[in-house]
Amino acid sequence: MDAVQMATSPWTWQIAPAPLVRGGPMRVVLMGPPGAGKGTQAKTVADMVGVAHVASGDLFRESVKRGDELGRRFKEYMDRGVLVPDDLTVQVVMERLARDDSRDSFILDGFPRSLGQAEALDDVLGADGRAIDLVINLTVPEETLLARLAGRWLCRACHTSYHTLYSPPIVEGVCDRCGGELYQRIDDREDTARHRLEIYREETTPAVDYYRDRGILCEVPGDRPRDVVTRTLTEAIRQRPA
Ligand code: AP5
Repeated sequence: MDAVQMATSPWTWQIAPAPLVRGGPMRVVLMGPPGAGKGTQAKTVADMVGVAHVASGDLFRESVKRGDELGRRFKEYMDRGVLVPDDLTVQVVMERLARDDSRDSFILDGFPRSLGQAEALDDVLGADGRAIDLVINLTVPEETLLARLAGRWLCRACHTSYHTLYSPPIVEGVCDRCGGELYQRIDDREDTARHRLEIYREETTPAVDYYRDRGILCEVPGDRPRDVVTRTLTEAIRQRPA
């Protein structure tokens, strides 16, 4: 599938399951509105393929947990459901991407989410001949997004995401994966969640369009069972432009 086809004819969930994701460097961005399943899918696919999962929201929440001055600033933005300013966001994500485990391959989750961030990412990668291979945009109807956010529980330790109805943990309040404590995010309250969706439409849509114009965007419906979405994503990644 060539890049033009990717940009004009979005892939769908009917694609046959991929047995394995092919090797080589893999620089993938996972986009989508709050609740689309970015964290759930990025973590699963990154584990399957053995690449770093870099989530801007998780980086900010780790900083908030540390309780330093920067963390207090991040918390103020996040609790209101607005974006952290581009300069701070780019700095935090680029520091993370500079680590050895994400030099060649990574799945970015929640970054970039503004045109400025997308351009900054291209500049940094392009400075030493690297580039994003593929951008996947998970699409989900708004009412489904709000229902997902309302029922979401997260692990404080490993950030695994659960849902009271769709994917409950085996033991209530405890992470299946690492035994960590589960909690609900302040910004998942309905009024804040609706505001985050508005911000997404205003600020992030231009970044989605930027990648569509470059021919590296693939749209994947995220309102399917989790394993179906995972298979579609792995197939999209396997077919990414070389
Ligand atoms: P961030 O943490 O990135 O939040 P978000 O983008 O709003 O996305 P979410 O984490 O809410 O949703 P998700 O798509 O990961 O869904 P999940 O997999 O959990 O950002 C938080 C804040 O940080 C921002 O508001 C901003 O302030 C700041 N920030 C972060 N990045 C920034 C940036 N680049 N620039 C500036 N500021 C930034 O799934 C949701 C629920 O649905 C879960 O319960 C899950 O179990 C369930 N679920 C998932 N998939 C399925 C499925 N297929 N079927 C049924 N249920 C499902």
